[in-house]
Amino acid sequence: MSPKPVILDVDPGHDDAVAIMMACGSPGLDLRAVTTVAGNATLPKTTRNALRILSLIGHTDVPVGAGAPEPLERPLRTAEDIHGESGMDGPEIPEPTFEVNKLDAVEVMADAIQESSEPVTLIPVGPLTNIATFLRKYPDLKGRISRVSLMGGSMGLGNTTPAAEFNVYVDPEAAREVFRSGLPITMCGLDVTHQAGAGRTERDRLRGIGEVGEVVAGFLDFFAGTYERVFGFDAPPLHDPVAVAAVLEPGLLKTRRMNVEVECESDLTRGETVCDFHGVTGRPPNAEVGVGLDREAFFDLLLDSLKRL
Ligand code: RIB
Ligand code: CA
Repeated sequence: MSPKPVILDVDPGHDDAVAIMMACGSPGLDLRAVTTVAGNATLPKTTRNALRILSLIGHTDVPVGAGAPEPLERPLRTAEDIHGESGMDGPEIPEPTFEVNKLDAVEVMADAIQESSEPVTLIPVGPLTNIATFLRKYPDLKGRISRVSLMGGSMGLGNTTPAAEFNVYVDPEAAREVFRSGLPITMCGLDVTHQAGAGRTERDRLRGIGEVGEVVAGFLDFFAGTYERVFGFDAPPLHDPVAVAAVLEPGLLKTRRMNVEVECESDLTRGETVCDFHGVTGRPPNAEVGVGLDREAFFDLLLDSLKRL
């Protein structure tokens, strides 16, 4: 079976970095472009980090388009407390060996989709600002998108407020537009990504697979430290790689089809993904929401992809 063409939209971020590596190491995916958005850190930092990761693993042929420096309507909220000042603190890795594309994220996305002979899967794992902006500018290209496998939201508690997960909290208006777009959506929310915690056992497994594994383990050691300090446990969830795995091996994720709406009016619950699990609202289902993850198979898939780098 030919590899699936995908575009990753990222805000690296430690788990974004692992998602980029996973996508590059997986023979089942063809990474056509990476686009960057402000989120875990400001846009210059997330863009530098994406370029550094791709340079580190020698995938400098992947076009990187820089996108939105801030959300559609709100001031940017970043997450240095989790990812550090650079957005990807921890082991030092070299500066990029190639430049960001002269086209911005939306144009890089549009070019990659128009040039593809088959529909492309979008894998946004940061605030959804770029995706919403792309859909506004290129509605005619929606038919060339096979699915959006996004990391974001939660059926239950948030991680940024009691109600909201970070990516959706940062740009709730963008998330609302994506969920209302009519595109096939897989929502990899906290309900499943919290089942992908990288504890000491997983980090030691990573150290055993060679140079790339060492770097990833080093990143996750840093991530574990901040997670411990902020959330009280040291198994940082590999949020973003779950959205990649959901494209690679859909069977890893147990999903339930339901309507998801995003709260944008309330200050108290801004960014909440209101998931109609029991279908009581009468609103038409618009997403496959992750409700379970095969954790062991996920980590096997992740390590298998990283070993190939
Ligand atoms: O809430 C977790 C999400 O926010 C992840 O994508 C992480 O990288 C941050 O972007
Ligand atoms: Ca992210």
